[in-house]
Amino acid sequence: MRIVLGVSGGIAAYKAVEVCRRLVDAGHEVTAVLTDAARRFVGEATFSALATHPVPEGLWQRWEGGIAHTRLGQRADLVVVAPATADLLARYAAGMADDLLSATLLATRAPVVVCPAMHTEMWEHPAVAENLATLCRRGVHVVPPGSGRLAGGDEGVGRMAEPATIVAAALALSARHGDLGGTQVVVSAGGTREAIDPVRVITNRSSGKQGHAIAEAAAARGARVTLVTSSALEPPAGVEVVHVESAADMHAAIAAAAPSADVVVMAAAVADWRPKAPAAQKTHGLPELVLEPTPDILADLASARRPGQVLVGFAAETEDVVARARRKLERKGVDLVVVNDVSAPGAGFDHDTNEVTILGADGYVAAVPLTSKRQVADAILDQVVARLRRGTTGSNDSKRDTKEG
Ligand code: PMT
Repeated sequence: MRIVLGVSGGIAAYKAVEVCRRLVDAGHEVTAVLTDAARRFVGEATFSALATHPVPEGLWQRWEGGIAHTRLGQRADLVVVAPATADLLARYAAGMADDLLSATLLATRAPVVVCPAMHTEMWEHPAVAENLATLCRRGVHVVPPGSGRLAGGDEGVGRMAEPATIVAAALALSARHGDLGGTQVVVSAGGTREAIDPVRVITNRSSGKQGHAIAEAAAARGARVTLVTSSALEPPAGVEVVHVESAADMHAAIAAAAPSADVVVMAAAVADWRPKAPAAQKTHGLPELVLEPTPDILADLASARRPGQVLVGFAAETEDVVARARRKLERKGVDLVVVNDVSAPGAGFDHDTNEVTILGADGYVAAVPLTSKRQVADAILDQVVARLRRGTTGSNDSKRDTKEG
C-alpha cells in the first residue's frame, strides 16, 4: 500500500519517526511529507533514511512524472498525519493548500487519519473541536490524543497517541475502505415524537448521534446511505436524508427504503407507545392519556426481509442488559443486536461516546469498550460486512411478540 505520512510541527514529530518505521516494517511504501515547522523538530534526513522515498522538497517539485502537490495525494492509498497540530487541522478544515501537506490532503481520495497533538488548552478550544468535527463529518478518521507529558514540562490531555496505536488504527481503517461499496444501507436515528396535541409530545432522550455516526461510517466505507432521522443534528455529508417525527412517519419511511436495502440498522429510539387519540386542538386542563403500541418497525422488517439482507437492531437497557438483548435478538429475528446500558457513564443517550455489546444470531458476542460513537459504528459495520460476505443472514421466520419493545 502507498502511504503518505504527513508530519506537522509539534514536539510529537519525533514519534512520527517510529510511525514511519513501523509502516515500512509492515511492508508498505511510505513517503513522509514534512511541513516547514516539522523540519524544525526532526530533520528531513531521518525520514528520508527510514521511508521508502526521499522526503519531497515542496509544492513545486516534480514527483513520479507529475507535479508533487497533486500526484502524491492522487497515488496514495492512505494518508496518515502524525502529529496533526491545531494549525494543520484548521488549514485542512478550511481547505487551504499552501504547502505540500495541505495540498496533498485536498488532492487525495484515499482514507485520511489525523493524530492530533497539542497543549490541553488548545485541544479544548472550541475552534479545534469545531475543525475536528468538520473533518469527521467529511469522513476523516481521528486517533485521539491521550494524557501525559507535553512540551515545555506541562502535563495533560493532548499528547499524541503512541505509534503502535496509530499504525494499528490506520491499517484497520484502510482495510475497511470501500468494503461497503455497491451496497445500499438504511439507518434510523433519533427519538420519535408522538403527539398529545398540536403543542405537546411524548418523546425520549435520543439525540440521534449514534445513528448519524453509523450513517457517516457507512458512507465513508462506500455505501449509498439513506438516513431516516428525527434528529435536528446536521446530517453527515453524502447521505440521503429523510426527516421524520413520529413512529408512524419512521415506519413509512423505513418501509419505503428497506426493500432495496442490503442492510438496515435501527439505531432510532422509536417510541413504544403513543397517545391513542391525539387532540386536534391544544388541551387545557389535565388530560387523561390513553396509550396504544406503535408499530414494531424492526419486527416488520424481519418478517418482510429479502434474502441476504442484514438487519441490525439496538437495545437500550438499564438492567440484565445482555440477557434482555439476547431475548430481543431472538424475538425480533434480526442478525445483530447492539445493546447499550444507557445508565452507564458516558454510554447511550446524547453522549459522544458509547459502550456496547454486539450479539449475533449466530452466537457472536463482542464487547466494545467506551469509545466514540463513530468507532462503535465501525465495529458494528465490521460485523455487517462479515455477514454480507458470508451471505449468512436470517430468514423471515421471526417470532413477533408485542408484549415487550
Ligand atoms: O441517539 P443517541 O443520543 O446517540 O443515543 C443512542 C441510543 C441510546 C438511542 C441508541 O444507542 C439505542 O440504543 N437505540 C435503540 C433505542 C431503543 O429504542 O431501544 P429498544 O430496546 O426500545 O428497541 C429495540 C429495537 O427495536 C431498536 O432497534 C428500535 O429501533 C426498534 N424498535 C423499537 C420500537 C418500535 N416500535 N419499533 C422498533 O423498530
